[in-house]
Amino acid sequence: MEVLIFPDSQSLDRKSADLVESQITTFRDSVIGLATGSSPLGLYQELCRRHQEQGLSFAKVKTFNLDEYVGIPDDHPQSYRTFMNKHLFKHIDIDLGNTHVPNGMAENPLETGPAYEQKIEEAGGIDLQVLGVGTDGHIGFNEPTSSLGSVTRVKTLTEQTFEDNSRFFTADEFQPKLAITMGIKTILDARRVILVAQGENKADAVRDMVEGPLSAFCPASALQLHQRTTILIDEAAASKLQLRDYYQFVGKMQEQLTEKHSPSDWVRR
Ligand code: F6R
Repeated sequence: MEVLIFPDSQSLDRKSADLVESQITTFRDSVIGLATGSSPLGLYQELCRRHQEQGLSFAKVKTFNLDEYVGIPDDHPQSYRTFMNKHLFKHIDIDLGNTHVPNGMAENPLETGPAYEQKIEEAGGIDLQVLGVGTDGHIGFNEPTSSLGSVTRVKTLTEQTFEDNSRFFTADEFQPKLAITMGIKTILDARRVILVAQGENKADAVRDMVEGPLSAFCPASALQLHQRTTILIDEAAASKLQLRDYYQFVGKMQEQLTEKHSPSDWVRR
């Protein structure tokens, strides 16, 4: 697990965008896993800017979103499909037919998971997965005690996640308590993972994810098993890490290495 700590959100957003750009310029038909929520917003803004100002192309890219609420339609203002269209897809040259978000309105939501897994497999698997982390350590909507071997399925949100996400819903709006989410195994199967977290309210989750024991109680700790995960955090989110200085030193060493070797040397399929 590589931990990169940034002094401000602009540098964090630029670095996360560099990693995505590196992937999709090396392999133009890359399959990218995407997250919603506040954490990747700066990354998406930076990708839109690079598309508009520098011609970064997504024309052949395929995407799979981590999750979607059960019971709200695609065109609902709070659906994750709406979020993705608004914050990324409508600003870039991606073919919407190549973008996938789990179907929260399926007649039988229990059947959605296997179908979604099959689509990911048919696309050749996920090359790079973008993640945020919940204050309770969830990734996707894999809440504490989710099986570390889980695949896409319906999950019940914890009270904490429900409350964290209530900021997006108005008081009289239906807020779902169920979601369809990629599983932890689905995420671990991605060839590369980048996780973005900012703010003091993520400090406990970041500590448990990076330095805590591997445990289903902190689903993000499963990333300790992944070979190519980069955690991009700000000082506040890093504030409870014991080996903070060491991670910064590793970052400097890494920079020296990448000066000698082109960043694309680090992108593998
Ligand atoms: C979103 C997702 C969630 C969020 C997490 C953090 O698709 O899967 O795991 O990444 O809840 O949310 P924010 O970024 O809003 O703090």
